[in-house]
Amino acid sequence: MLVNAKEMLDKAKAGNYAVGQFNINNLEWTKSILLTAEAEKAPVILGVSEGAGKYMTGFDTVAAMVKAMDKSLGITVPVALHLDHGTYDGAKKCIEAGFTSIMFDGSSLPIEENIAKTKELVALAHEHGMSIEAEVGAIGGEEDGVIGMGECADPEECKKIADLGVDFLAAGIGNIHGVYPANWKGLQFDVLANVQKLTGSLPLVLHGGTGIPDDQIKKAISLGVSKINVNTECQLVFAAATRKYIEEGKDQQGKGFDPRKLLAPGAQAICDKVKEKIELFGSNGKA
Ligand code: 13P
Repeated sequence: MLVNAKEMLDKAKAGNYAVGQFNINNLEWTKSILLTAEAEKAPVILGVSEGAGKYMTGFDTVAAMVKAMDKSLGITVPVALHLDHGTYDGAKKCIEAGFTSIMFDGSSLPIEENIAKTKELVALAHEHGMSIEAEVGAIGGEEDGVIGMGECADPEECKKIADLGVDFLAAGIGNIHGVYPANWKGLQFDVLANVQKLTGSLPLVLHGGTGIPDDQIKKAISLGVSKINVNTECQLVFAAATRKYIEEGKDQQGKGFDPRKLLAPGAQAICDKVKEKIELFGSNGKA
């Protein structure tokens, strides 16, 4: 059932668990995530980066595929179709395409410009019945082979953005996308506690869910994190399962690989990973 993400995240915040956002790249990933969320009776968020949107030939295609698949698989759990790290223009395109939720990432802009653009998009998203996530304090990660450490958000700036009426907020607390470097200092819980103090009941979002130790995930949830994004861990298990299948040489005597069979182990690996995360985040049985 396609819905916006507000109610599921308000419930998660009140119930001290987190909803998983898993990024989609194609039909197989989407199907794996939807079927696993349904089996786990968990609300779920499908994240679409601008790059993944382009790969799938545009946000219209993504919205049409997700809506049709949700219906044809008979999915009953709440599912939000969410733009991940959207630009201002990307966010507007997703509003037109029929997504149910958007993230506007203005974290690299001067705070006044982040505020002005977020404010405009909050009004537009809410007019369309959509939820909106904003970001303060850039989430670092690998760029051109260099791993940048995550920034820590200024709690006062978080409050300014929260007061614009966003439905959930990503605040940098030392988290980064991709695999964490060996010298990573861990999540900055003092920053998270200060952000939570100033933003009250607003659900907070933890990006860069890959590779954060389970105890830190649980502590983050206890301090107000209600949505956790995971992408790289799904990529890693998908790649490993696909590589194994090819290395085992299970091709079809001269006909190459049956594309459906080739992608099946990777799709199953995504199901297993999503199940593991849903259970860790405590959203199973919450739909
Ligand atoms: P990871 O790739 O580190 O899991 O992060 C995903 C993410 O935060 C998407 O916005």
